[in-house]
Amino acid sequence: MKDKVLELLRSHREQPLSGQALSNQLGVSRTAIWKHINSLREEGYDIISQPGTGYLLDKVPDLLLPAELAPYLKGEKFGTIIDYHSQIASTNNRAKSLADEGETTAPEGTLVIAEEQAGGKGRLGRKWFSPQGTGIYVSLILRPSLKPEQAAGLTLLAAVALAQAVHDLTGLRPGIKWPNDLLLNGKKFAGILTEMKGEIDLIHYLVVGTGINVNTEMELFPPELQDQAISLATVLGRKISRIELLAGYLGIMENLYQVYQTQGFAPIKAMWKEWNITLGQTLAILSGTREYTGVAVDIDANGGLIIQGEDGQEQVFHSGEVTIKKT
Ligand code: BTN
Repeated sequence: MKDKVLELLRSHREQPLSGQALSNQLGVSRTAIWKHINSLREEGYDIISQPGTGYLLDKVPDLLLPAELAPYLKGEKFGTIIDYHSQIASTNNRAKSLADEGETTAPEGTLVIAEEQAGGKGRLGRKWFSPQGTGIYVSLILRPSLKPEQAAGLTLLAAVALAQAVHDLTGLRPGIKWPNDLLLNGKKFAGILTEMKGEIDLIHYLVVGTGINVNTEMELFPPELQDQAISLATVLGRKISRIELLAGYLGIMENLYQVYQTQGFAPIKAMWKEWNITLGQTLAILSGTREYTGVAVDIDANGGLIIQGEDGQEQVFHSGEVTIKKT
């Protein structure tokens, strides 16, 4: 009902709507309307009440609230069920517990959103800096009919979707560093952490966690991240709408996910190559305790990185930390 009150206020931004009109249209008492208005105000909506005329929605909060995201969603599944938190340890952990409860609780496309993470996780055991209200920290639950070895392709797919969404909204052209770091001006502004539960030959579910530094000011990054991290707002010199970026990302991802499941990895690989800044480069890859140096020549049919060593031998890596050598 609260969402319906908001919807009506949203469609009457020019003129106040009286408590009586809201109550008539929604079939609830004026007291109930008043309670919903107050609860919306507590969430951060600025609603002016003018005696004798009614309620007017003045400003919406800069939050990733489900009711704010809903009007921008483009797909049919991704983000239609949302588990929203002002603060949480990690959206990936939360998404995994929801997914563990089964398909009825958390069908494919369920999205966990947080305005802030106290224990945001990065790849390879690192932390993800997740300050309040400036970035996007989300985890999407997927239940694909793919083989476990195809899961890596999905993270590459997510990176492509995000690069495209950033480009559509800002005109910027991010580069993807294998497997799925997104860079601008040589610094990282977004990363993807995919976690999977399954058996050796069956995926139960996947959680695709995405962290994006959207409007984070440089001074906010801890000293150790200052020369590696950047935000979209820093590159652009202006803030951008987190809601529109998130909606764009989810919409493109839903399309590409469909493509992956029906046509396989080849079209995704072709798109990934368009955005990538890894292939053709001399690089070092740290995989486990082993470091290997060579030239990145291609990605294989599952998204693994093919590196040609100095001896001409090719090796495929499925995980690891890539450092591009300066030439
Ligand atoms: C990386 O590049 O190392 C991956 C970063 C992934 C961060 C996101 S933020 C939302 C989700 N929840 C987490 O705890 N991590 C991912």
